[in-house]
Amino acid sequence: MGGVNAPNNAEPVQAVSWRDGRLWLLDQRTLPERTEYLAYDTAADAAAAIESMVVRGAPAIGIAAAYAAALAAGARGREDPGGWRAALSPDLARLAAARPTAVNLAWALARMERRADEVAAAGGPPLPALLDEARAIHEEDVAANLRMGALGAALIERPCAVLTHCNTGALATGGYGTALGVVRSAYLAGKVTEVLAGETRPWLQGARLTAWELAREGIPARLIADSAAACAMQRGEVAWVVLGADRVAANGDVANKIGTLSLAVNARHHGVRFMVVAPSSTVDVEAPDGRAISIEERPPEELVEFAGRPVAPAGTRAWNPVFDVTPAALVDALVTERGVVLGPNRARMEAMMGEEPGP
Ligand code: MRU
Repeated sequence: MGGVNAPNNAEPVQAVSWRDGRLWLLDQRTLPERTEYLAYDTAADAAAAIESMVVRGAPAIGIAAAYAAALAAGARGREDPGGWRAALSPDLARLAAARPTAVNLAWALARMERRADEVAAAGGPPLPALLDEARAIHEEDVAANLRMGALGAALIERPCAVLTHCNTGALATGGYGTALGVVRSAYLAGKVTEVLAGETRPWLQGARLTAWELAREGIPARLIADSAAACAMQRGEVAWVVLGADRVAANGDVANKIGTLSLAVNARHHGVRFMVVAPSSTVDVEAPDGRAISIEERPPEELVEFAGRPVAPAGTRAWNPVFDVTPAALVDALVTERGVVLGPNRARMEAMMGEEPGP
């Protein structure tokens, strides 16, 4: 969104936008090789884009789905000005089914659904009101990220290197980023000297996306194989692990990109602090703990092939869970726009979710 400056004044990255009555997505499958934007006119096509990772990252898929819901409401309203609300429900269901783990998707669609109910009851045309709601979801996400950037950076006491995983930057959000937003704010405050970015097998969000964002912004970074993280911690290379979340349960358990659990266990063993940064739209108060979180498993081809070429013998079976659950006890700090929860547990989470969002 406008007004969010990168440290070296690079043009802000806009993963999701609304322009000329269409939803535009920066195709994250072709980065860093090519920067291409794709336009969407239907909920079905937008849902397919979420499934196929054109857009990814918990907040970004929620925002994309919100705009797609507005698109669908506009189309249903034109088809049947009196009965559009009923026709919209299958579109919302199709979008909600696109990916199971990031709760921001269901959260954004529930908000769009409530707005659709209000507009239908009032008898107005659906598109303007639903588009306003999608824009509000988008703008609130950027504001939350800026706030979390300041709160998270304040936790880092002295200049140090940090390790991050997956991509949590502008590409994964409405803008600025969650964990990468903290990295950006902390870097600007002179508290981050270098970022070690885990490549994030198998989809390489760390290598293809995080390294790209950090390079654009001139933040010093080194890419590491995911399996090098323990070694980096053992050698004292990093003081903090800073990463995002796809869903946080009511007790503070954190579902995030596969490999996060391994980083949390390693961080605790090596005395490295572990910070999770996620807006309150990522907190699922209906999930009592991590066991209630549905973990997406993606096709084995993502593991046994690389760029369309086999990297394992033909017929190799593979298991490809793309998220894991880190117990709250391994999290030192959970940062949301509502505030910081140190040592998250059920009572502290409840207190934080009961607070009004900060200024
Ligand atoms: O499969 P992805 O790329 O959608 O997974 C993204 C992550 O796991 C991120 O860490 C998470 O969504 C937080 S993004 C701000």
